Amino acid sequence: MLVVTTIKELQQVLSPYRSDNQTIGFVPTMGALHAGHQSLFSVARDHHDVVVVSIFVNPLQFGPGEDYETYPRQQALDEQVARESGCDVLFCPTVGEMYPDGFPQVVHVKQGADVMCGRSRPGHFDGVATVVLKLFSVVQPNEAFFGEKDAQQLAIIKQLVKEFFLPITVTGCPTVREEDGLARSSRNVYLTAEERRYAPLLYKALQKAQASGKRDPSILVADVKATLASIPVGEIDYVEAYEYPSLKKVNEANALIIVAFAYQFKKARLIDHIVMDFN
Ligand code: PAJ
Repeated sequence: MLVVTTIKELQQVLSPYRSDNQTIGFVPTMGALHAGHQSLFSVARDHHDVVVVSIFVNPLQFGPGEDYETYPRQQALDEQVARESGCDVLFCPTVGEMYPDGFPQVVHVKQGADVMCGRSRPGHFDGVATVVLKLFSVVQPNEAFFGEKDAQQLAIIKQLVKEFFLPITVTGCPTVREEDGLARSSRNVYLTAEERRYAPLLYKALQKAQASGKRDPSILVADVKATLASIPVGEIDYVEAYEYPSLKKVNEANALIIVAFAYQFKKARLIDHIVMDFN
């Protein structure tokens, strides 16, 4: 596996593959790699000649007071995980490399960013869309892989590719969970021992709502809120339901519905969701 830090090096490494018509699978990440990331590497490995992974903690997608400075950074360990997962090229640019002129132009996401995490984290999805567009421009992959775990992000990136006519297939991959149901996340390391004991209740709240057989989104939201409110540590950021992937208001419960939440523990803000098929 080659580790490169500049766009120039990356393009030198990838150009022979491109001339040889080899296909490139790409997984953008912010590092602190875990089994969720590895599942994306492995799907990319199965379908492409070359697997490119990026590690870049993107300052533009963090708001003031969020965890940009403290976001877990573990370059040596991540290199080992990426290597063992069969990645070919690891791209780890600096902030100066990705934003040489600061932030003179950004992508502004107008649809789907006014709800859920977009509402609690203003500007977050503009930052995500901007960096993903930049990464797509430098890697020029045939296919890029994203986790369904970040369902709003996935929907926005699919729209980005459509909107800017990018010749890239965006593929969503299922959420990888711990045995007790907690979704794997780089932010789980922030959980205290007590919070970690309660954290599985988050996904259980969604499962319980789904198993209830209820079809009214506002009742499902109320049920999830009630379960989450019974957790003695942390607090609800939001619980919301929309049509998926449009993230528009549910009119009639006759489509794919996403019920999603963000939950704030002392340091860790965790998100999860469930998609229900009401067809
Ligand atoms: P990061 O949080 O590192 O996640 C990188 C990719 O891994 C995303 O597509 C995310 O959805 C996926 N992922 C994370 N946890 C997962 C899990 N438990 N199961 C399956 N997939 C999982 O998301 C980002 O970075 C950034 O916003 C990025 C897209 C790189 C732009 O900066």
